Amino acid sequence: MIVCIGAGPGDTGYLTQRGAQLIREADVVAGFDAVLDVVRALIPAGATVINMNYRDQVAQLDNVALEHHAGKRCAVVLMGDIHFSGFQYLERVERACGHPVESLPGISSAQILASRARVCFDETTFITFHRRGDLAPFKRHLVHVLQDGRNAIVIPCPWDEARSFMPWHIAAYLMEQGISPDHPTEVWENLTRGEAEWHGTLAECAGHRCSDMSIMLVRTLAPMASQIEPAP
Ligand SMILES: C[S@@+](CC[C@H](N)C(=O)[O-])C[C@H]1O[C@@H](n2cnc3c(N)ncnc32)[C@H](O)[C@@H]1O
Repeated sequence: MIVCIGAGPGDTGYLTQRGAQLIREADVVAGFDAVLDVVRALIPAGATVINMNYRDQVAQLDNVALEHHAGKRCAVVLMGDIHFSGFQYLERVERACGHPVESLPGISSAQILASRARVCFDETTFITFHRRGDLAPFKRHLVHVLQDGRNAIVIPCPWDEARSFMPWHIAAYLMEQGISPDHPTEVWENLTRGEAEWHGTLAECAGHRCSDMSIMLVRTLAPMASQIEPAP
């Protein structure tokens, strides 16, 4: 058995009961250090822990795959929900194992943001820049989302200077593309764990600095009117 488990946004109160059960029953628990820290109390005393970072993740996932093929129950734990800005990691796990791997959804930082900021998913698009490969199609899509009158929930890219696309870069890029500087914009940090929130306009966001553990909301300038039935 091997399963990729979404650990939620940081506080274990947001880890699903099924995720907690799978970790408690695992022979091997693997993940990035920061995520393992979230679930540490649930890891059985006798379990093998395989921790990894961006540089050694491919080699460490090969070790997880060896354990899996030896018949061990393996839980690979990821931040938030694997299906938002975690899918490339699932692809790496599957490549190491040589077959598709089950995933268990977790609560995403995007869901917590939507709840804090009172945003309706139906009228909002999620975009991440925290991924390998060509970001250009995702940048274009973000512009189209705002031009189409939707909100955007955006995970920035915190990597090295060359690739970094943090909220201040995103705001500057959007304005260069002709998006109004007046869009209400929010940046939320460390959701569920010592949160900080910032509210301003897109123009002001270009001058606002935040930590890597941030998620951004760019609101539409024209929120949809409620379409529920008239009040009795
Ligand atoms: C690789 S992405 C994983 C996102 C995750 N799969 C999810 O659904 O939330 C990691 C980035 O998500 C954002 N993030 C994750 N947890 C967060 C939290 N609790 N508060 C704010 N941002 C968060 C940060 O931008 C972080 O660098």
